Amino acid sequence: MKLEKKFPEKRVIITGAGSGLGRALALEFAALKWRIAVAEINTKRMKETAALIKKAGGKALEIPCDVTKPAEFTRALNTLKKEWGGVDILVNNAGVAAAGFMEKIPLPEWEWIMNINLKSLIYGCRTFIPLFKEQGSGYIVNVASNAGIAALPEMVSYNVTKAGVIALSETLRTELAPHNIGVSVVCPTFFKTNLMDQFTSPDERQRIMASTFFEKSRTTSEKVARHVVSSIKKGRLYVITQADGKFIWRMKRLNPQIMYSVIAWGYRKGIFDKYLGVS
Ligand SMILES: NC(=O)c1ccc[n+]([C@@H]2O[C@H](COP(=O)([O-])OP(=O)(O)OC[C@H]3O[C@@H](n4cnc5c(N)ncnc54)[C@H](O)[C@@H]3O)[C@@H](O)[C@H]2O)c1
Repeated sequence: MKLEKKFPEKRVIITGAGSGLGRALALEFAALKWRIAVAEINTKRMKETAALIKKAGGKALEIPCDVTKPAEFTRALNTLKKEWGGVDILVNNAGVAAAGFMEKIPLPEWEWIMNINLKSLIYGCRTFIPLFKEQGSGYIVNVASNAGIAALPEMVSYNVTKAGVIALSETLRTELAPHNIGVSVVCPTFFKTNLMDQFTSPDERQRIMASTFFEKSRTTSEKVARHVVSSIKKGRLYVITQADGKFIWRMKRLNPQIMYSVIAWGYRKGIFDKYLGVS
């Protein structure tokens, strides 16, 4: 089904739309002539995305927003009600990355990543669901990661937040079904964006590992965004955007015990270190 048929008003809000996947999604919707609310903490990037949306044929609404503050979601909701009379799709995309050995990650860093990568999605969903119920339709896209499916070593805080996002989305998929509200959860593997800008890790080793993963990726934000929009059209719950991610997803479903044994073996043997150029 065409997305416009389901949502003729063509209104979407995207958090973290100032960069990377969020911006690519905004431009994908702009090409379809949607109205896009750019909810972003970085006002410079927010304005850049808004300008690009207009250039690409869409309409932009700038919403300065820190997703870790529930009141800012409420403010965004009120702005959308006032400006557009509502909204059709909420994309919870804003996120950050971190890594480190479990016992070395400082507690404030746990707080930081849990607030941005997990709790903000809880705030977003609980703020917008009443509006979607009132409207009799709506759609939630939660951006998780393949890290929520295959929990790689030295990435525990990131893995935990993304697994939480998957659980949140799976629950809402069923809970909201009677209300004509769809839910998708996006699980990409690495692709190059500005995610390393705010990356934190106690050891330089993990920064090198993460950077190498990004450098080695052959996928772009644009490709991932195209896949996401096409999956919303199909109403897919799990949006596994890349071939390596699909392989991991199948392995996990087939035999998680074997999958983690293989990862543990490779990690013990130093295969990861060799591949990623660290020691
Ligand atoms: N790039 C990858 O390889 C990859 C892989 C899997 C999942 N993801 C996920 O994709 C999403 C988008 O990340 P990206 O790769 O495009 O990174 P990015 O850094 O390019 O974009 C993230 C955006 O979120 C914004 N943001 C950060 N904190 C915010 C806050 N408190 N309030 C509002 N906005 C905030 C940033 O300013 C930035 O514009 C994230 O959830 C990330 O975890 C990325």
